[in-house]
Amino acid sequence: MRIVKVKNYEEMSRKAANIIAAQVNLNPQTVLGLATGSTPIGTYERLVELCNNGDVDFSQVTTINLDEYYGLEPTHEQSYRYFMNKHLLTKININLANTHVPNGKATDIEAECRRYDELIENAGGIDLQLLGIGHDGHIGFNEPSDEFVMGTHCVTLNEITINANSRFFNSRDEVPKQALTMGIKAIMQASRVLLIASGDDKKEIMKKALFGPVTPAVPASILQLHRDLIVITPLDI
Ligand code: GLP
Repeated sequence: MRIVKVKNYEEMSRKAANIIAAQVNLNPQTVLGLATGSTPIGTYERLVELCNNGDVDFSQVTTINLDEYYGLEPTHEQSYRYFMNKHLLTKININLANTHVPNGKATDIEAECRRYDELIENAGGIDLQLLGIGHDGHIGFNEPSDEFVMGTHCVTLNEITINANSRFFNSRDEVPKQALTMGIKAIMQASRVLLIASGDDKKEIMKKALFGPVTPAVPASILQLHRDLIVITPLDI
């Protein structure tokens, strides 16, 4: 694990964007694993700038997002498809057909999860996976549990996550209770993982995840076993 200590959110975002841009410049057909949440917004803003300045070309890139709320239309303002289109995908020169988010409106959840795993496999796996972390240590929507779940699956969100994410909705009741998430296997098989975290409220969970025991009770702790993990954070951990 390599920890890059930065001054603040802006520097974290700039460094993360530079690493992603370098990856795309080295391999224009890169498969990027992307994340949502407030943490990567600055990274996406920098990537849009780099693209507009002609410093990176996304025309041959494929993106595969970690997760999606179950039951939300892609056009719903809080859906992760909407988030990705708004913050990044419609602002760069990527072919939208090559951008993927689980289908939160799938009627056959099992089939959708299998489809998503096949999509990742057919893409040859993920070259660079960007991750944030939830307050309970979740990555994607892999919530604390008794075991690490390998494949894409449907999860019931726990209270901590629902409370944290309710800030984006009009009321707590509107937060979906379930989500589809990529499993631990695809994340751990990514050639490189880039974990970003900022805000004092993430300090304790980052310490636990990176230096505590590897346990499904703290899903992000599995990243300690990843062969190429880069952590960029302003936090003193
Ligand atoms: C959501 C996403 C995660 C993200 C987490 C943290 O639950 N599913 O991928 O890491 O939120 O979000 P934030 O960056 O807003 O703290």
